[in-house]
Amino acid sequence: MKSIILVGGEGTRLRPLTYETPKQMLPLVGVPMIESLFETLLSHGVTDAVLALGYLPDRFIEAYPTNVIAGVRVTYAVEPEPLDTAGAIRFAAEFAGIDETFLVVNGDVLTDLNITKLLEFHRSSGAEATIALHPVEDPSRFGVVPTTPEGRVLAFVEKPPHGQAPTNLINAGTYIFEPSVLERIAPTGRVSVEREIFPALAAAGTLYAMPDDAYWLDTGTPQAYLRANRDILTGQDKRPSVNVVNGSWRHPLSTIDPSAVLVHAVVDRDCRVGANVVLEDAVLLPGAVIEEGAVVRMSIIGPEAVVGSYSMLGATCVVGAKEHIAPGSVLSGDVRLGGV
Ligand code: GDD
Ligand code: MG
Repeated sequence: MKSIILVGGEGTRLRPLTYETPKQMLPLVGVPMIESLFETLLSHGVTDAVLALGYLPDRFIEAYPTNVIAGVRVTYAVEPEPLDTAGAIRFAAEFAGIDETFLVVNGDVLTDLNITKLLEFHRSSGAEATIALHPVEDPSRFGVVPTTPEGRVLAFVEKPPHGQAPTNLINAGTYIFEPSVLERIAPTGRVSVEREIFPALAAAGTLYAMPDDAYWLDTGTPQAYLRANRDILTGQDKRPSVNVVNGSWRHPLSTIDPSAVLVHAVVDRDCRVGANVVLEDAVLLPGAVIEEGAVVRMSIIGPEAVVGSYSMLGATCVVGAKEHIAPGSVLSGDVRLGGV
């Protein structure tokens, strides 16, 4: 089955990190997020994918110049301008000449979702499109999808106001489409699959959805990105290849003073961690430096950033690439350091 992976978003909620690195190329415990996604796709027999790219496309193309990501053959469909989700699907499908049932995946989701089961359900219902659903506590950040008991979608409500969602089952960002869906997408310009195409399909009665309670996380916010790393460290998301020691992971090419305390920490390549540092639920991206006595909790330290000695960083700081935090600083709240 052919697949289209949407990875062209700007990752605004993960700025400033995403000024340099597209969200799906940010590492989770040392491995770019997109590789975890492709491992899952491959395990369900997906061997070919079109990457729908728009924002910082060269970061993908340069990282995978042989057109293979985690065993899946990829081609790159680079949009001339942001086309939004349905516009991107249309563009990628034309680019790859897709004319049969195909899979669409939001590339920023981390999941063990059963694509094989989703395809079976799609075929048995005779749907034009099928959405995988996942239960969440607060649906207001997602597309909310009420259905009949047989799974026919009654409505598709993208990001309803807090407390007004008709169900807690949300769009998990994995879809099976018949090629006829492409004809419903206006031929040019920006089109949203969530705000235009799904409501139209629901009204036509040809949109179905199937709940799946597999592991699922949208990694788009700093808190979710930290959570995704922690889930790998604690074995919630079973990534086999990671060498976690005492609940933390360190790249062999990093230097950590033996007096430092690591609790669910990720220390990537070429980082330096000084004496008596405490890292708790912290992610250090390549080349970050934490000077002596600093405490970093629930925070992401960008590439080659420096946290000065005896600073205290608490939930939730996102420090951009090469930023310097003066010694003795105390920062917490929704802190973002660094610009374009
Ligand atoms: N190529 C391309 N072009 N990709 C895009 C564009 C675009 O113009 N805009 C967004 N994307 C990609 C993003 O990179 C991401 O992988 C995916 O489309 C979804 O965009 P997000 O910006 O991450 O949307 P969201 O997380 O707020 O909501 C979406 O995902 C939720 C599940 O995680 C919606 O599909 C919700 O309905 C859904 O519940
Ligand atoms: Mg998202």
